[in-house]
Amino acid sequence: MKKILVTSALPYINGVPHLGHMVGCLLPSDVYARFMRMMGHEVLYIVGTDEHGTTSEVGALKAGMDVQAYCDMNHERHYKTYKDFNLSFDYFGRTSSEQNKEITYQIFEALDKNGFIEEREVKQVYSIDDKMFLADRYITGTCPYCGYEKARGDQCENCTKVLEPTDLINPKSSISGSTNLEVRTSKHLFLNLPKIEPKLREWLKTKEAFWPDVAYSIALKWLKEGLQPRCITRDLKWGFNVPKKGYEDKVFYVWFDAPIGYIGITKQWSDEKPEDRNWKDWWFEGNDVYYVEFMGKDNVPYHSITFPATLLGTGMDFKKVDYLKGFSYLTYEGGKFSKSENRGVFAGDAISEFKADYWRYFLMSNVPESSDSSFTFDLFSGVVNKDLNGVLGNFVSRVLKMTASKIGNTVPAKGAFETLENEMIKNLQTHVDLYLKYMNELEFRKALAELRAVWVEGNNYITASEPWTVIKEDPKRAGAILNVCINLIRIFAILNFPVMPETAENMLARLNLKIDERSGLKDFNVSDEMVFFKGGESFEVGEALFERISPERVEELKAKYGSAK
Ligand code: MF3
Ligand code: ZN
Repeated sequence: MKKILVTSALPYINGVPHLGHMVGCLLPSDVYARFMRMMGHEVLYIVGTDEHGTTSEVGALKAGMDVQAYCDMNHERHYKTYKDFNLSFDYFGRTSSEQNKEITYQIFEALDKNGFIEEREVKQVYSIDDKMFLADRYITGTCPYCGYEKARGDQCENCTKVLEPTDLINPKSSISGSTNLEVRTSKHLFLNLPKIEPKLREWLKTKEAFWPDVAYSIALKWLKEGLQPRCITRDLKWGFNVPKKGYEDKVFYVWFDAPIGYIGITKQWSDEKPEDRNWKDWWFEGNDVYYVEFMGKDNVPYHSITFPATLLGTGMDFKKVDYLKGFSYLTYEGGKFSKSENRGVFAGDAISEFKADYWRYFLMSNVPESSDSSFTFDLFSGVVNKDLNGVLGNFVSRVLKMTASKIGNTVPAKGAFETLENEMIKNLQTHVDLYLKYMNELEFRKALAELRAVWVEGNNYITASEPWTVIKEDPKRAGAILNVCINLIRIFAILNFPVMPETAENMLARLNLKIDERSGLKDFNVSDEMVFFKGGESFEVGEALFERISPERVEELKAKYGSAK
């Protein structure tokens, strides 16, 4: 048994999560956490809201609220959304917590003591019309590297290059649209990345063989371009005040304390029940901990370079990421999700239309792993109708209905396995082994294809064994076939659980069973599992597992959520 620490990039408090956010870090992290628990590992799964920065100040201003109250409210909103998607985090915390402040200060002080913090005069963009310094994301302009015209002052989302606001060509305020900007000078603190670079390179080298390409290549590209000292303070009110003389009225840059939030949130979790939880077990001398981070590719530079460098610079033995899973983007009906243009399915809408598992299955089987992937209602309804209804749902209802009507509401007696069963079990074991292997390797698309292949085996088996014909001549054999099928329903439910927890529980409930998360998938042996029901156990038929999505409904959904221009 291993200890597995799982984190998902912490969503911005003021953002409204859409399907792209769900698939680009939150859902895969949950599927992985659930899977690892079922493999018998001790898992700690941490998520929370990323609360500091100008965006929160601006959001609160627009909402006419005090920033703290605004964040409290939005924290609840995020929490509820993720609960609706059945994310199984152990704790959903906040980067603005006292615990995070404490750890951020410790880290800062260690970096300062070790000589990795330096003072510099900074030119900053001040917006005369907005009466404020315009940090990072609130300045837009043309990327000096790739020419993308809507680059933000913190990062170009087109080429992923991290920017300083003053790098932009033709900058303007995205708060007011004003170009009435002026550059003012003040002192700020910088994390001296070039000085930490040798340690960082050494550390990164050990990841080369393990990290997925998306992540490692972005990290490498960054190193090649050369590291620059990174400004970690800002002229804002909302944030952790900088504990250094002369900097009292500045706060830490949101990207400084946000990833430290993983640690801070673990401490929040541990402070809640200190008698049986210790955050240090996960974050210090973590040789027994395997730490996996999930994020979109725009987050990779911070998690592969800046955050590890921050931790390395402290000289303390902090746990650092072992496996970094970066995702590409999900497009919506061929374009981008946009809250302001009211285009795309946002997480709350999604749940009001279909239960979580429809989305979980669709998104995980189309997860943007090696390249961008697309969401369209045509694709979505196709997957729901074909895979979920046609393959999985159909199998379950066909088997249970047939058994109930021909035999009754108890599982028929098990019989001796014939060639058909032996072949099916063999094929199933092959797919199960691959499913487990790919899940272990975080190859989600491949894993989901194997899961579907498992269900297909069930359908092929019932088609080939024809219990509805056999029953006329040999009711005992027909009963034995249906016994196999009912055993398959339980097997499918267990395998489905990490991806579709509600459906899995629903399937098991028909068989009067509950999911046993612990070790349910460890050394999963199909032959052994196939003899769980011996016969005589009672079951209920239940309703259809999934509803079909009609072409009319697809058109309605497209009209409601907008389509690409
Ligand atoms: N809030 C950032 C985003 O949504 C992610 C922050 S990840 C963290 O892009 F680790 F830094 F918190
Ligand atoms: Zn660019």
